[in-house]
Amino acid sequence: MAEVVIVADREAAGRLVADEIAGLVRANPQAVLGLATGSTPLPVYEALRTALADVDVSQVRGFALDEYVGIDPAHHESYRSVITREVVEPLGLTPQNINVPSGAVDGIEHAGADYEAKIDAAGGIDLQILGIGTDGHIGFNEPGSSFASRTRVKTLTEQTRSDNARFFASKDEVPMHCITQGLGTILRARHLVLLAFGEGKADAVAAAVEGAVSASMPASAIQLHEHVTVVVDEAAASKLS
Ligand code: F6R
Repeated sequence: MAEVVIVADREAAGRLVADEIAGLVRANPQAVLGLATGSTPLPVYEALRTALADVDVSQVRGFALDEYVGIDPAHHESYRSVITREVVEPLGLTPQNINVPSGAVDGIEHAGADYEAKIDAAGGIDLQILGIGTDGHIGFNEPGSSFASRTRVKTLTEQTRSDNARFFASKDEVPMHCITQGLGTILRARHLVLLAFGEGKADAVAAAVEGAVSASMPASAIQLHEHVTVVVDEAAASKLS
């Protein structure tokens, strides 16, 4: 059963998770972090600026969950750009240590296997930060994704493209495809930390934590993991029994 921590607000969630990460990095300067994008993890990255201020982060390694396929890596909303802007630069991480799956169309057929090999070579992910989609996706593993899946190309659902349209000039600009760590990849991380805020996530959180374990609710895969922390505000926790 996941440990569920209900916090007052996003800032409190950010501090809690940032302190956990700082402890991890102090104990192991080469810690491997799994980095989510989207709006949910931003308070964690913000709080890490303080939590890691006196910690040597030069050897910390990181793996993003996903990337859009066909997007220019220099595009403001590519996850490569987002991770650089929100995580690598403000925290002073070493850019070469931070990996994002390649969304380049050229070579996309082996990009997933290449990424898995890099995660394996790093010894696996110590702590994976996760957000959750309103349809229960984690990473970009949409409903129907196999629990055994590894990093691969997926088609984004209309729901997710609509949810992410806020980051682009219009929904038409949101790419159709992504490359994402699989549910099987995520389940191999040693500690999963799933965050969710706001009423809009309440149904997905309840289904993920307490509902049936089913491929139609990808986040329910967390119930198969032995070390999961779910950090939510009151609104996102409101449908938990
Ligand atoms: C992003 C990711 C997605 C998001 C999810 C929630 O790397 O993997 O699963 O975590 O779409 O997005 P936000 O946080 O913007 O509500």
